[in-house]
Amino acid sequence: MRKKIAMTVNGKVESFEVDVRDSLLEVLRNTLGYTGVKKGCGVGECGACSVLIDGVPIDSCIYLAVWADGKTILTIEGVAQDGELSPVQQAFVDKGAVQCGFCTPGLVLTTTALAESGQEYTKDELKRELSGHFCRCTGYQNIFKAAEKAIETCRHDGSCGNHHPADHHHDQEKQEGSE
Ligand code: FES
Ligand code: FES
Repeated sequence: MRKKIAMTVNGKVESFEVDVRDSLLEVLRNTLGYTGVKKGCGVGECGACSVLIDGVPIDSCIYLAVWADGKTILTIEGVAQDGELSPVQQAFVDKGAVQCGFCTPGLVLTTTALAESGQEYTKDELKRELSGHFCRCTGYQNIFKAAEKAIETCRHDGSCGNHHPADHHHDQEKQEGSE
């Protein structure tokens, strides 16, 4: 069965038909062309496919496209501001947190949600918040350093654009609460 839905992706309103069984990941990549949304495991384990839905990090591979009807989506393509890397992206570059880059879009988006929350995180809390993301290259330490730096930068100078003012929760918590 097909259904017409509409969503705002990276500030642009998109209206189109989907099969009700399509995942948001499939629609973002194959229908709308946002290939920065990566498919890793396809079963909600690796975080590669994470996007922000109304400001909340969600694994788009296990989220039906029809659930996103009327919602606001941010993918990695919408993170840069005025053609410049966002403070979070810049922190990932500065701290050497990018190797093959497959995990990077999801990690940048989750870190963006954390940074935009304005909250402080201990090292352990930050690790827990990022625990839904697997990285096969970096050994994680530079990722944690980048996330720490980005969150601190945003807290001190407010330089993170407020893509979505909604509060955030870890993606797994959100999914558990919505199912
Ligand atoms: S591809 Fe979605 S969590 Fe791995
Ligand atoms: S940089 Fe390669 S998987 Fe993370």
